[in-house]
Amino acid sequence: GKSGYDHYMLKEIHEQPTALRQCLRGRVDELSGIVTLEELDSVGSVSDVQLVACGTSYHAAVFGASLLCDRGVRATAMLASEYSSERVPVDSSTLVVGVTQSGETADTMRALREANKAGGETVAVTNTVGSSAARECDHALYIRAGPEIGVAATKTFASQQVALTLLACHLGGEATHELVRTLRDVPDQIQTILDTSRATSIAQTYVDSDAFFFIGRGSQYPVALEGALKLKEISYEHAEGFAAGELKHGPLALVTEDTPVFAMVTGDDEQARKTVSNVKEVNARGAPVVAVTDGQTNVDRYADHVLEVPPSTEIGTAITANVQLQLLAYWIAHELGRSIDKPRHLAKSVTVE
Ligand code: M6R
Repeated sequence: GKSGYDHYMLKEIHEQPTALRQCLRGRVDELSGIVTLEELDSVGSVSDVQLVACGTSYHAAVFGASLLCDRGVRATAMLASEYSSERVPVDSSTLVVGVTQSGETADTMRALREANKAGGETVAVTNTVGSSAARECDHALYIRAGPEIGVAATKTFASQQVALTLLACHLGGEATHELVRTLRDVPDQIQTILDTSRATSIAQTYVDSDAFFFIGRGSQYPVALEGALKLKEISYEHAEGFAAGELKHGPLALVTEDTPVFAMVTGDDEQARKTVSNVKEVNARGAPVVAVTDGQTNVDRYADHVLEVPPSTEIGTAITANVQLQLLAYWIAHELGRSIDKPRHLAKSVTVE
């Protein structure tokens, strides 16, 4: 059952600390930083990685591709429905990673089968033991999130982020102590957010807006995309995610005082400072700004509200910032009285192309 929660979605959002601990169990050595993924030990030599996925899983794939690139592994994330091994070269040193919670998504299965036929080695990053993806791929990396009933993917996205972080370490060298600490601390940090989030009151403040925009850079870019997808699918409100740097190339024209902008601003590097500049730009055009931030920059000066995440590495804050956006989407949909666990027109698993 729903264990006292009004919806499975809220229950599953709250299960994330446990889900991530399960995903990590036995896979990271705290002292040496060595990541052990026995299920991938027999992967041959890899020259490039192609991640294929749909929807929320695609956002996790974008996150995973950027982590692989950071570790010197050539990687690209592609929408499974757009993937064609005829247009993207695949050979025996190509690792094609299907990121699919259900393991049954038709678009993703087609892409994996095509890649396999073209001679690529395939891995399923999935939540479902015995699924088509797990059975048909050469290897399976389980995300161990536990069953997810809500149509909106929540805990499985966080678990995909962690599993793909481990995959990036496995293929691109061992984890640094900083990363090991990040992964160890992230479940407790999510718990802190669940206990203290102000997303409910922000949802009440902005529920009647014309549209909702989400911006982020680097590892926060897929989080912005995911925040918008979560909100649109369960609230039926217009929501879009943008790379923060793209705003001035078009979307800025949409910004008004009735379109709140949710900005992911974490860390204090060049990327974060550039996003603060974008926040100033939207603020100057009268849009309300909600900063999802760890407080490392002065973004709070230009933001109307702050949703806090604990300071961490880029990977940690990309996982925790998303939790704030899940809560925001949930509470906006709740205010509107939507059918949160079964949004109109959508199915949990999409088995047609
Ligand atoms: O089972 P999959 O991960 O392959 O599903 C892919 C998408 O259909 C899925 O992530 C969808 O976008 C989410 N349910 C949205 O919350």
